[in-house]
Amino acid sequence: MNIIVSALSFTYPSGVEALHGVNLAIAAGEAVAILGENGAGKTTLVKHFNGLLRPTRGTVAVGGWDTREHSVAQMAARAGYVFQNPDDQLFERTVQAEVMFGPHNLGRTAAEAGAAAADALAQVGLAAQSGANPYDLHLSERKLLALAAVLAMHTPVVVLDEPTTGQDARGVARISGIVEALKAEGRTVIAISHDVDFCAEHFDRVVLMAGGLILADGPAADVFARADDLRRADVEPPQLVRLASALGLLGAPLRTEQFVDLLAQARL
Ligand SMILES: Nc1ncnc2c1ncn2[C@@H]1O[C@H](COP(=O)(O)OP(=O)(O)OP(=O)(O)O)[C@@H](O)[C@H]1O
Ligand SMILES: [Mg+2]
Repeated sequence: MNIIVSALSFTYPSGVEALHGVNLAIAAGEAVAILGENGAGKTTLVKHFNGLLRPTRGTVAVGGWDTREHSVAQMAARAGYVFQNPDDQLFERTVQAEVMFGPHNLGRTAAEAGAAAADALAQVGLAAQSGANPYDLHLSERKLLALAAVLAMHTPVVVLDEPTTGQDARGVARISGIVEALKAEGRTVIAISHDVDFCAEHFDRVVLMAGGLILADGPAADVFARADDLRRADVEPPQLVRLASALGLLGAPLRTEQFVDLLAQARL
């Protein structure tokens, strides 16, 4: 299920033009990280993928469906969006009901929705809290609940908006495992993140945004080597890339093994 964004501009009712003619094509099964300064337009862009926002100009199509011609409920079967702020997403009175809402809304039976919910809650580590009120959970747990609510819908496209914010090391590891599992299933995973090390480790392609435009788009190793574009987008290179550059090594290693290889080569 591919995503094709063509000449997308979007103006909020307040008059703020948040996107100025964005072009982007994401193929089925890609893992794409979107990075950029605050207010760059990242959230505005991805909210177009499931029809939460509709283009002011230009078009967005998901699996050939023009988002202007389909309801949010229809788009939700194709692209699941985990909100940046879980409190904008969560509305049910129990954790269980929250995670069953999506599959139920997609027409699954109560038994199927229950099974999908149980699986998703186990994946995020909230199985024991299924009877709790979402507002009694910590923010980090509410973020995981918002993720579970989308996982339970089994959409071909999963969009995560700042998934690691506020998570401790264990939470980040859990989210990383979920991203890898989605990739292994061949699903499209798109994440917005300020966490460059998380992006470098799990996403093959990086889209850099600034001022409502795409500044750079390509393989993660290429984009993380473009120091000028990173500076313009106010994004620090990943730690391993900075370390390699400080040591005078050529290349942008994204994973520890790649860094070790580069270092070994330089010593030969
Ligand atoms: N609901 C809204 N009404 C009016 N303007 C908005 C609204 N949401 C966002 N904006 C504005 O649109 C622009 C892009 O915002 P957006 O939230 O897409 O950026 P972002 O890249 O996701 O930033 P962040 O990293 O802070 O989440 C900003 O100027 C922002 O102030
Ligand atoms: Mg945002």
